[in-house]
Amino acid sequence: MQFSEGHVPVLLDEFLSRFGILSEIALRCGRDSFVDFTFGLGGHSIALLNRYAWLKIIAFDADPEVCLMAESRYAGYIETGRLTIINANFTEFDSLISPDKLNCVFGAIADFGISNYQLFEKGRGFSFDDDQSLDMRVNPDSHDISAADVVNEFPAERLADIFYSLADERLSRQIARAIVEARDVKKIETCRQLAEIVRKVYKRHPDIKTGVDFATKTIMALRILVNSEFENIKTLLQKTSSSFCKNSWLFTITFHSNEDRIVKEFIKTESRGCVCPIEIVLCRCGHKAMVKPVNRKPLCAGDDELRSNPRSRSAKMRIIEFI
Ligand SMILES: C[S@@+](CC[C@H](N)C(=O)[O-])C[C@H]1O[C@@H](n2cnc3c(N)ncnc32)[C@H](O)[C@@H]1O
Repeated sequence: MQFSEGHVPVLLDEFLSRFGILSEIALRCGRDSFVDFTFGLGGHSIALLNRYAWLKIIAFDADPEVCLMAESRYAGYIETGRLTIINANFTEFDSLISPDKLNCVFGAIADFGISNYQLFEKGRGFSFDDDQSLDMRVNPDSHDISAADVVNEFPAERLADIFYSLADERLSRQIARAIVEARDVKKIETCRQLAEIVRKVYKRHPDIKTGVDFATKTIMALRILVNSEFENIKTLLQKTSSSFCKNSWLFTITFHSNEDRIVKEFIKTESRGCVCPIEIVLCRCGHKAMVKPVNRKPLCAGDDELRSNPRSRSAKMRIIEFI
């Protein structure tokens, strides 16, 4: 797959229309920089750079391969100083963007998960038919454990907990047992091997219909685990709310309910002032509201997008304003 070939970023129209409102706030405050925490194929960022001549983007991606390709594909924007690509985990942004640059930032986007490029690129272990290494680390150079380490070494109970708690896999115990039985015979080295083990478990439960490949949730849980995806989202939300300027916005895009719940809960807790129990008359907690939601309900794909990109059906965009 060619980098960014045929790539349509999810919820682009919704993003651009709300960004239009934010851009007016930015111009009034004299700020010109926006952060893309998950550059990927650059879909959202490049659409902005093409539209707003005054805009500068600071972009992060943890995947070194994605950053190398972005640097060559978007060299023009980089040379003019409008695009800066940083190969790092977005949770480290506060030590990588200098305080004076952070002062010019009026907003950010975080489109969580992995891109189509990673999904379809062989050898990364993300796709069901990948018969190369079962890695799944967004940054394969990191010292984090790979998905192969997890499925070949973790005890069955722990695997079951991972599948259930991270991806709501209802056959988590049966799948975990099948993995342990399979690895006793032959080490599980590829995503294709793993997907086959899961599919066999489902074949014993023909009454269960999922509408997607039976291995989807197991593979998603492993990806979430090896990349600490939920912890990273929590850290990003905390750090942006303590370091972004007042009136800045953070656009988040999530793809499944557990991810969305993290953002939703964060907004709920951090948009409240006092969080003392109701029976306490005088506030003791000192908690102050740090954020407010820009849209009360999450934005979802419209009919046109659902038709052209069925993957968008689970995408939810929430917009947080820092106050
Ligand atoms: C869904 S894609 C973003 C797609 C992008 N908005 C576009 O339209 O092309 C998510 C990207 O975030 C990157 N990523 C995932 N976790 C990350 C993290 N903790 N820090 C930085 N980048 C991360 C992945 O490598 C992937 O390229």
